[in-house]
Amino acid sequence: MSQPSNTAPGRFITFEGIDGAGKTSHLDAMEAQLRQGAREVLRTREPGGTPLAEKLRQCILHDPMDALTESLLVFAARRDHVVQVIEPALARGAWVLSDRFTDATFAYQGGGRGFDLGVLETLETWVQGQRQPDLTFLFDLPPEVAAVRLSSARHPDRFEAQDTAFFERVRAGYQARRQAQPQRFAMIDASCTPAEVARQVNAALHLRGWL
Ligand code: TYD
Repeated sequence: MSQPSNTAPGRFITFEGIDGAGKTSHLDAMEAQLRQGAREVLRTREPGGTPLAEKLRQCILHDPMDALTESLLVFAARRDHVVQVIEPALARGAWVLSDRFTDATFAYQGGGRGFDLGVLETLETWVQGQRQPDLTFLFDLPPEVAAVRLSSARHPDRFEAQDTAFFERVRAGYQARRQAQPQRFAMIDASCTPAEVARQVNAALHLRGWL
């Protein structure tokens, strides 16, 4: 099996956080901002991002299954996404903006479901080799605040329907990933006003000289 290399010239940015953190609206804003520049911008999401992975997304979000099945399906979807979309785009020099990636698996399946982190690490290496995002925005906020934001949302999927204790574990799972690779993460206080959150997001790009 050929493993993706980590020498591509593009930039891979991921957006993470518990459900209700508000990451998607800031992703929209960054996408619009980057599209004013010269580089190609590719917006994508996980689970999903290819026709096959989008089919798997429907199963993952709506069909009952155990934590191993869930983990295998998110990594199967990710493999197709990495091979078909992410690696080719990075090789072309694109900015790749992904609404979630592997940190979500460590947070939701590892933290939330309590699934074996060693198995997830093995699957991570199989699926993506040494590939990691160049930058990960972690939209952090207390689950009780996120729950209020989500309460007006559409019919909840299998994850959105979980209780506050589940999201506390997801939040802790994200923090463990950040502590293991601190240089990759920009922590965003998502409990602030949208304007303040946008300021924090832009500051992280300026800090890296990317804006
Ligand atoms: P989300 O990204 O929040 O999309 P939307 O805003 O359309 O609801 O939904 C994806 C859900 O999938 C989210 O609850 C987290 C979950 N998920 C995992 O459990 N593991 C993963 O590896 C990924 C990528 C997502």
